[in-house]
Amino acid sequence: MTSPSMTNSLMDRLILPGAAGFTRFGYAWRKRGWTADNFSMEGRTVIVTGATSGLGLSAARSLAKLGARVVLVGRNPEKGERARQDVIAGSGNEDVSLQLADLGLMSEVRDLAARLLESEKAIHVLVNNAAVLPAERSETDEGLEHTFATDLLSPYLLTELLLPRLKACAPSRIVNVLSGGMYLSGLEVDDLEYENGDFDGSRAYARAKRALMVLTEQWAEELEGSGVVVNAMHPGWADTPGVEDSLPGFYRLMRPLLRSPEQGADTIAWLAAAPSAAETSGRFYLDREPHVTTVLPGTAGTARQRARLRAALEAYADRSAT
Ligand SMILES: NC(=O)c1ccc[n+]([C@@H]2O[C@H](COP(=O)([O-])OP(=O)(O)OC[C@H]3O[C@@H](n4cnc5c(N)ncnc54)[C@H](OP(=O)(O)O)[C@@H]3O)[C@@H](O)[C@H]2O)c1
Repeated sequence: MTSPSMTNSLMDRLILPGAAGFTRFGYAWRKRGWTADNFSMEGRTVIVTGATSGLGLSAARSLAKLGARVVLVGRNPEKGERARQDVIAGSGNEDVSLQLADLGLMSEVRDLAARLLESEKAIHVLVNNAAVLPAERSETDEGLEHTFATDLLSPYLLTELLLPRLKACAPSRIVNVLSGGMYLSGLEVDDLEYENGDFDGSRAYARAKRALMVLTEQWAEELEGSGVVVNAMHPGWADTPGVEDSLPGFYRLMRPLLRSPEQGADTIAWLAAAPSAAETSGRFYLDREPHVTTVLPGTAGTARQRARLRAALEAYADRSAT
């Protein structure tokens, strides 16, 4: 497995230079070392969640351009259809379809998975990209805290439900879209739904992303030898509707430094498509390079906490089936 380079490890651990790498300048700096892409996704089917906006839309466009059949997952029919037309127009590839699901609701995640298994005889790539960062604590109609449901339980459940098809279609890939905010959070397993203490949206989001990193590592271990690789990525700081709506202060301050959605989504498409990206699993990427997963001691969680996280998610998923 490719490990983070010495330089990346050091930069990640020095918080300020590490964060500077999240800007468009970080992207431009790292891009200098890339060779021209000459890979193809012809004959591959990719599912992209959160494909109606920002990074998901951009990744879907890039993957369609590479020749993939792309299935966009969105929750709003009009926005979804607009995204589908945008991807077709931007890629020249008409093999783009739309599936509707509110991913905050596990009943809809289950229904989505059943429809995908029915409509897509082959699934080669799943991109778990959809996420929210609400300022206030709120619960879904199923009674789950929104951030936990959308950012963690939903990708967990969708991945588990699609795994048999991904294995059957191996070589295949899972790409989990995380965030540098994960670096600031430890693994929280006792209060997954943030029921205790004053709710902090950024913290709830960072906890969910940290947990999704742990899942990425667990899946990578379990799937070793199966032909399915699972990697996570951080897009850097990109100018998307999500950042503008959820972090208005940060957005105003940082706007001149933000990456374009295409720059932020580049590593999503690269992890989904590049032959060399299939050689690693369980890693965390920024700008096509693996990076450390922790910069603060203790944030990866103990073996016991990691096992408890998995058991808790399994229990939530089981409850959602009844
Ligand atoms: N942009 C950045 O700088 C940045 C930095 C770090 C990490 N990220 C990560 O990158 C990913 C994409 O973020 P973005 O910046 O592109 O945000 P965005 O513009 O808000 O896009 C988020 C997407 O998720 C979808 N979504 C949210 N809740 C959903 C639900 N309940 N059901 C179905 N779809 C749902 C949204 O659908 P609607 O269009 O219907 O709202 C939208 O398509 C996220 O995982 C985010 O955590 C982004």
